[in-house]
Amino acid sequence: MAESILPRVTLIEHPLIRVRLSRLREKTTPSPEFRERLHEIAQLMVYEVTRGFETRPIQIETPICETTGHEPARPIVLVPILRAGLGMLTGVLAILPEASIGHIGMARDERTHLPEKYYLNVPPGIGDADVLLIDPMLATGQSAAAAVAQLKSEGATRIHFICLVSCPDGIAHLTSAHPDVAIYTAAIDEELDARAYIVPGLGDAGDRYFGTSG
Ligand code: URA
Repeated sequence: MAESILPRVTLIEHPLIRVRLSRLREKTTPSPEFRERLHEIAQLMVYEVTRGFETRPIQIETPICETTGHEPARPIVLVPILRAGLGMLTGVLAILPEASIGHIGMARDERTHLPEKYYLNVPPGIGDADVLLIDPMLATGQSAAAAVAQLKSEGATRIHFICLVSCPDGIAHLTSAHPDVAIYTAAIDEELDARAYIVPGLGDAGDRYFGTSG
């Protein structure tokens, strides 16, 4: 189901995800269905993303007797990259309701063409947490790498990047800038076009999710 491509890159392959992703790619899929399928894929991906998360034993009492249960060893913090990351956040949060949520906004500087942070708010204690940085599209990897750098400057040390569709350029940029960050993706597409859209991709994920495309 999950295949490790590079040491820190995991392609999450599953028929349930494959079929839903195909609906997202289809250009006639309307926003209401786009949202539902994206939420479902995000939920399915969480099982794989959290597979290595540690738990610690706790003493619990069933109606029958005392026994040993488990609780998460660390807090979990979800950080969507605005705005498309909000779409995946809903699905991830359905499985991890105990998580705290931060937000990061990245925009391209028209002069330098580099991503600039315009908003950052993260919960206290992010240094102890497993942090899931969320963005559906890993295209050039510039925004993702800049977002990781911002989270590290806030003290985050255990960062997992979760996306829906990636491409070789984005993976190469993020892994070379931050080799410690684990990347989880449901698809690795072929390439970027001249406008830095992923090919075949699914278009602008934020516009399709929020219904703001023309
Ligand atoms: N962002 C998107 O929404 N889609 C792409 O193809 C690339 C970046």
